[in-house]
Amino acid sequence: MLFPSYRPRRLRGSKALRKLVRETAVSVDDLIMPLFVRPGKGVKNEIGSMKGNYQMSVDVLVEEALELEGMGVSGVILFGIPDSKDPQATGAYAEDGIVQQAVRAIKEKVGDILVITDVCLCEYTDHGHCGHIVKDKRTGQYDVDNDATLELLKKTALSHAKAGADIVAPSDMMDGRVGAIREVLDKDGFTKLLIMSYAAKYASAFFGPFRDAAESPPKFGDRRTYQMDPPNAREALREVAMDIDEGADIVMVKPALPYLDIIRIIKDEFSYPVAAYSVSGEFAMVKAAAEKGWLDEREIALEMLTSIKRAGADIIITYWAKDAAKWLKE
Ligand code: PBG
Ligand code: ZN
Repeated sequence: MLFPSYRPRRLRGSKALRKLVRETAVSVDDLIMPLFVRPGKGVKNEIGSMKGNYQMSVDVLVEEALELEGMGVSGVILFGIPDSKDPQATGAYAEDGIVQQAVRAIKEKVGDILVITDVCLCEYTDHGHCGHIVKDKRTGQYDVDNDATLELLKKTALSHAKAGADIVAPSDMMDGRVGAIREVLDKDGFTKLLIMSYAAKYASAFFGPFRDAAESPPKFGDRRTYQMDPPNAREALREVAMDIDEGADIVMVKPALPYLDIIRIIKDEFSYPVAAYSVSGEFAMVKAAAEKGWLDEREIALEMLTSIKRAGADIIITYWAKDAAKWLKE
């Protein structure tokens, strides 16, 4: 594959030429916007570490979803901040839970935007972990009980389905959760509902600002016993293979920018749609630098989104979805 007499720079000489031979283009069609919903009316609280993002009540959220739809953004992924939390995460699967209400309202008032729900317990447990917590008899340490958690995740996913979600996205990282959720959905007749699994989700420090936004930091310990260890790449292939085997329709890598290599190997290995979640920390660090005048937010964001697409992502979940929809038109 060596062509020693060829001069690559010939193709870069003009804007028209660059456009002609460009390999990657981010489109608004690829983008999903994360939204945070909380109880109340007329609530729109800006999230300090993620300027331009808000905790919204359902009425405000519907307006936002309408605007995103008008701009051509393909979907939203919803996170709930309930009024009260408990060890069993009852708010996660309550019929009139905050996410369930939000899904119903968007489905009723917004014609054509995909509604994706994050299926996890950490926003609803008083301890802030993604699952049911038990004391390990051997070590005396507290850890999530994988199988007890599956029961709660099944209830949560089913309640989202009943509210009208188009796609459920389990982000808890328990083993066997995709299969468990698929089974309960199919049994209830939701055979066409898609599962987008957070398949390769790393125990990352880049989630910091999200935990402010969703008010969900773990009160003790951390998530390293269930989320992936950042140095591992081959393990991501096993996680993805397992989720596909259990019925995942779309597989996700999270975070995105520090894990572009993972996006690429998954894209090369599996013929499944790959989503990448450009997380809160990726957004916040650029915002902060831009506020100081050290970086150009628009240029950086578009370069990041392009890199994520070039690495192989078909779908990008990003806090820039709304801004990018504007920028890509300019
Ligand atoms: C819930 C969940 C988290 C994120 C998405 N779903 C937090 C976590 O696992 O700690 C992070 C998203 C972001 O940082 O933007 N499990
Ligand atoms: Zn969680």
